Order: sequence, then structure tokens, then C-alpha cells
Amino acid sequence: PTPSITDYLRSHIRTVPDWPAPGVQFRDITPLLQDPRVFRVLIDTFVHRYMDRAQRPDVVAGLDARGFIIGSVLAYELGLGFVPIRKKGKLPFTTVQETYELEYGSATVELHADAVRPGDRVLVVDDLIATGGTMMAGKKLLEKLGAEVFEGAAIVDLPELGGSQRLREAGLALFTLVDFG
Ligand code: PRP
Ligand code: ADE
Repeated sequence: PTPSITDYLRSHIRTVPDWPAPGVQFRDITPLLQDPRVFRVLIDTFVHRYMDRAQRPDVVAGLDARGFIIGSVLAYELGLGFVPIRKKGKLPFTTVQETYELEYGSATVELHADAVRPGDRVLVVDDLIATGGTMMAGKKLLEKLGAEVFEGAAIVDLPELGGSQRLREAGLALFTLVDFG
């Protein structure tokens, strides 16, 4: 993205100190979603990257819950299907599971066993990468089903937490729009 798109998006992300726990600077994307012009710039930036033949996924997977907001709109715009990776206990059919650590706490995520087919090229989407645990768990779930996760996309990266570096070292290409140090 050009610096101006990054700055425009950054200026619509709100920082809430000490939420949900002391010491956490929470990067809140709701102001960005609330403004129709900014929301459109955000989605169009992702659409332009993934509409290219070389980058086009077969499926978009979104991470619970904020990854659903952009992932589903992106999938719709690209003419692709969307699959949700959900927190434990929400999906009704047979699932695969993965447990991981968060910046604050731990979690288990699940994916329906028939969500993707072996060999599918999957884009995994979330709003933010902190420790990278959530996106790593998503990648592992998709790979358990034989899919190829070719890239992870997020609005925000928190590079000081080391998650994006760990994900790249694990072989996942990343596309993120705004860094907060
Ligand atoms: C947040 C965020 C990412 C994840 C990033 O979700 O939306 O999914 O944490 O952290 P990580 O890189 O350290 O894994 P959260 O678990 O707060 O859930 P929510 O989307 O339901 O609010
Ligand atoms: N998820 C994990 N860490 C976060 C943060 N600092 N802001 C928003 N979402 C988060």
C-alpha cells in the first residue's frame, strides 16, 4: 500500500490503554469499519491484491471473530466461498481442533472437517497479528485438512510481539496494512 493508505487506515484505528488487561494497548478497528469510505478503502486494498491471477485464492478462511468481518466481505467481492475458523464449541459438525497461546490467555479453535479440500489454496484473514498464535493455529487447522495456506492477511501487525516474524519463519507469507510499534 502507499503510505497515504496506511496513514488513512491508521488514523481510524483507536488505541484503548489497559484493555482487556493492564499493560495491553488494544488496537480497536471499529472506527475504521464504522466510516463507510474508510471501510471501502480497506476492503478494496485487499480485493486488489487477491483479484490478481497469481494471488487469487480458492477459498478465504476467517478467524473468529474480527476476521469474519473482513474475510467474508473479501470472499464475497472476489466471488469465492468463505469458511469460518471458530472458537471451541461453536461449530456443529465434525471438526479439527488446535490449542494455542494468546497475548492474554489461551484458546482452542476449530474448523469443520469438510471446510476445504486437499490442495485448496487458502487465504487466512484476521484483523490483527499480535503473538501470531491465532493465525498459526488457523494455518495448522487448514493444513490438517490438506489445504495449502499461501498467505495470511490482516489489517494490523504488532511487530514488537514477534508474531509476524514467527509466522514468516514458519513459512507463511503475510500481507498487513498498518504496523503499531
Ligand atoms: C484477537 C485478534 C486476533 C488475535 C490476535 O482476537 O482479533 O484474532 O487476538 O492475537 P495473536 O496474534 O496473539 O493470536 P481475540 O482472541 O481477542 O478474539 P475476538 O476476535 O473474538 O475479539
Ligand atoms: N489481539 C491481541 N492483542 C491485541 C491488541 N493489542 N489489540 C487488539 N486486538 C488484539
